[in-house]
Amino acid sequence: MKSEILRLLKESNGYVSGQQLCDAFQVSRTAVWKVIEHLKKEGYQIEAVRNKGYRLVGSPDVMSKAEIESLVRTEWAGRQVVYYEETDSTNIRAKDAGEKGGEHAVHGTLFVAERQMAGKGRRGRGWESPAGTSIYMTILLHPKFLPGKAPQLTLLMAVAVVEAIRKVTGLACGIKWPNDVIYQGKKLCGILTEMSTEVSFINYVVIGVGINVNQETFPEELGDKATSLKLELGANVRRAELIAAVMEQFESCYGTFLETEDLSGVRKKYNQLLVNRNQDVRVLEPGNEYEAHAVGINDTGELIVRTEGQERAVYAGEVSVRGVYGYV
Ligand code: BTN
Repeated sequence: MKSEILRLLKESNGYVSGQQLCDAFQVSRTAVWKVIEHLKKEGYQIEAVRNKGYRLVGSPDVMSKAEIESLVRTEWAGRQVVYYEETDSTNIRAKDAGEKGGEHAVHGTLFVAERQMAGKGRRGRGWESPAGTSIYMTILLHPKFLPGKAPQLTLLMAVAVVEAIRKVTGLACGIKWPNDVIYQGKKLCGILTEMSTEVSFINYVVIGVGINVNQETFPEELGDKATSLKLELGANVRRAELIAAVMEQFESCYGTFLETEDLSGVRKKYNQLLVNRNQDVRVLEPGNEYEAHAVGINDTGELIVRTEGQERAVYAGEVSVRGVYGYV
């Protein structure tokens, strides 16, 4: 009920009467009052005026379950939020739900944490996850398509994150193949997809997203490689709003993906956002490094590169690319 009351307050331009809220949720005035008090304790500024009702006058950067659910306007992506003040890793929590089944295993459930104690990055690396400034979230999916197609979802999420950032903040970011979201050569967001599959079907896929939102500083070793939205915009960004926007964009991209079960519907957009496009890159395959000219992705998300007059499709799995002169 808290999420719904919050949603009603947000959607209304003026006051929402106590009676309206009682009628909407079939509860007593005291129950409504209790929810309002709870919201105030979380930092929402709610004005209560006799004979008029309640009015939301200010929302802090709260990243609670109620706040996120009150903002998400999708059919299924992020409609259900499982929220942790602190957990090991939202990818681990989502996989656990995928294994166990039950109410939190529904397609589209979003696992969000304020802080991760064992945040995971790609290639077995960690992901620093302190509280207060970042987004750490993982969406759990139960796709019906064949397992070999699932890695393409990572590229889909990268597009969704870029689009959401643009919608919420106006900042135009790019993608470093396959799935780092970057701004002027520095990383803003990392994505880690994991899955459980049988030979011919997917049990579940989890897509974990870490976005640097309101950090003002980074550890020295990341200093020249990472940035945050706040550092680039000079202003705080409301994390729950960005989460809701990512869910909206992802649901839309996923719908496009399902039409063809490949990236053909988002390929043009992805290639427009691809910072490696038409750049010389170093392809780092295990045991084989070479320089090539990156052209763009194909319909299945492989990077097409030109080398020695020939085109090759580079598969993301074990391969990464670096700019010849640096990270991008
Ligand atoms: C990368 O190395 O670029 C991928 C980083 C992915 C980090 C996110 S934060 C939320 C989710 N939970 C994790 O443990 N990892 C992902």
